[in-house]
Amino acid sequence: MWWCLLMAAALMAVSADPLIYFREQFEDGDEWQKRWTESKNKSDFGKFHLSAGKLFGDPEKDKGLQTSQDGKFYSISAKFEPFSNEGQTLVIQYTVQHEQGIDCGGGYVKLFPADMNQEELNGESQYYIMFGPDICGTIHEKVHVIFNYKGENHLIKKNITCKHDELTHLYTLIIRPNNTYEVKIDNENVENGTLEDNWDFLPPRKIKDPNATKPLDWDEREQIEDPNELRPEDWDETEYIPDPESHTPNDWDSSMDGEWEPPMIQNPKYKGIWKPKIIDNPNFQGEWIHPEIDNPDYMPDPNIYRYYNIGIIGLDLWQVKSGTIFDNFLITNNETFAERIGNETWGITKDPEMKMKEKQDAEKEAKEAQEEKEGKAPKWKGLLKNIEKMGKIKNDNKAEIPKIKHEPQPTEKIIENDEQPEAETKEETNTAAKDEL
Ligand SMILES: *[C@@H]1O[C@H](CO)[C@@H](O)[C@H](O)[C@H]1NC(C)=O
Ligand SMILES: *[C@@H]1O[C@H](CO)[C@@H](O)[C@H](O)[C@H]1NC(C)=O
Ligand SMILES: *[C@@H]1O[C@H](CO)[C@@H](O)[C@H](O)[C@H]1NC(C)=O
Ligand SMILES: *[C@@H]1O[C@H](CO)[C@@H](O)[C@H](O)[C@H]1NC(C)=O
Ligand SMILES: *[C@@H]1O[C@H](CO)[C@@H](O)[C@H](O)[C@H]1NC(C)=O
Ligand SMILES: *[C@@H]1O[C@H](CO)[C@@H](O)[C@H](O)[C@H]1NC(C)=O
Ligand SMILES: *[C@@H]1O[C@H](CO)[C@@H](O)[C@H](O)[C@H]1NC(C)=O
Repeated sequence: MWWCLLMAAALMAVSADPLIYFREQFEDGDEWQKRWTESKNKSDFGKFHLSAGKLFGDPEKDKGLQTSQDGKFYSISAKFEPFSNEGQTLVIQYTVQHEQGIDCGGGYVKLFPADMNQEELNGESQYYIMFGPDICGTIHEKVHVIFNYKGENHLIKKNITCKHDELTHLYTLIIRPNNTYEVKIDNENVENGTLEDNWDFLPPRKIKDPNATKPLDWDEREQIEDPNELRPEDWDETEYIPDPESHTPNDWDSSMDGEWEPPMIQNPKYKGIWKPKIIDNPNFQGEWIHPEIDNPDYMPDPNIYRYYNIGIIGLDLWQVKSGTIFDNFLITNNETFAERIGNETWGITKDPEMKMKEKQDAEKEAKEAQEEKEGKAPKWKGLLKNIEKMGKIKNDNKAEIPKIKHEPQPTEKIIENDEQPEAETKEETNTAAKDEL
């Protein structure tokens, strides 16, 4: 009897219903405007509108929040019932599509404490977690995973490359209560590990023993000259000698001409510089390795993963060319469930979307070919052709082919060096540095 109850309890535990902290599919017309709050911190934030865009797998299901103005900061957020991920897995998942062919801009989300003032949301607002792709040219295509730990933002130490195309992609971050994490793109693992190893939340476990120094007589020479070998007595190292066959000319007057010196000739017995044999050093001790000790400043923290009062998700980013669509937001405690939802949303629409893209590409190509045939190709095309021709001529002269490429701006360079999210730090590098470091 009692074991029946235990069995029932065990079954219940195994099939625990996933907790859904937040879900947003944008499938109820304009209602999303009641759930999402635009920040009023700046008067000129860019506008999000609801759209499936020009490239989609399903005209209804693929509707999401799309950035609609070029060269703007965007700042919008949605509230949900505050929760803590204590003792629970935390999954943050959403889809993002850069159908405009993004050049430089953010595609990430931020999770905030519930008491953040949504109308004041801006790049300085302190978040708990920032996750998702950030693109600037082809030199900066990364997935950010930034955690706020004890008041400071910590960037992941690994480089995770994001997708840089016009299709919709599913981004998933999993944080587990055993302090491990996983990043998935399109439901496939792209990075995983422990929070402690892949961020610098804690000081290192081991340090070099400051009291240990390399002994003065430590022998690191792998090979030495054979000390037992001596230069043979008759070894002649003199390269030039006075010519023994020459003698003072008869008419030499040393009072007038100075001391006579015989001419020098090559020494026929010259053997070169003597060198002893090189042998393995019998006293070789190997490279000295600095002994390590436990770092007295290291304190493990079993709760790195833990946040209290998570209550807001926000899109707070900068875009040069707009058109990015955010959709299928899910925050849950169950990674299998999130994977399933990913399959049932992105998983369903990705193939039709791909087909649409192939069709659009084929149509575009056919149209261009037709226009060229009819001599109706737009002027810029002719110009481009000319430039290409010039490039060829120049190339024949071993000069450079003119190429359009992304030239990083000075601020970007600074940001790249400091490993900071670019799109979001465009405005003021200094304040942004504070924000992300
Ligand atoms: C996740 O949810 C599934 C049902 O979708 C359930 O079977 C599974 O036990 C849950 N896992 C956890 C860890 O709660
Ligand atoms: C913008 O946010 C900052 C805090 O980050 C606040 O001090 C300021 O008053 C806000 N401005 C407006 C207009 O909301
Ligand atoms: C990540 O990329 C940067 C810049 O390309 C490079 O300097 C750094 O070594 C890389 N880090 C890792 C862990 O690969
Ligand atoms: C952490 O938890 C996950 C999921 O429960 C498990 O698969 C993994 O083996 C655990 N890892 C460690 C290092 O404990
Ligand atoms: C990362 O994933 C690999 C492959 O699935 C697994 O073997 C490894 O245990 C994972 N690491 C952690 C820390 O979870
Ligand atoms: C270094 O040596 C001193 C003197 O013996 C000792 O007091 C100190 O604890 C040692 N430091 C470490 C890190 O072992
Ligand atoms: C999601 O789809 C993939 C590919 O079809 C499948 O292997 C995986 O089991 C699915 N995951 C879930 C949780 O349904």
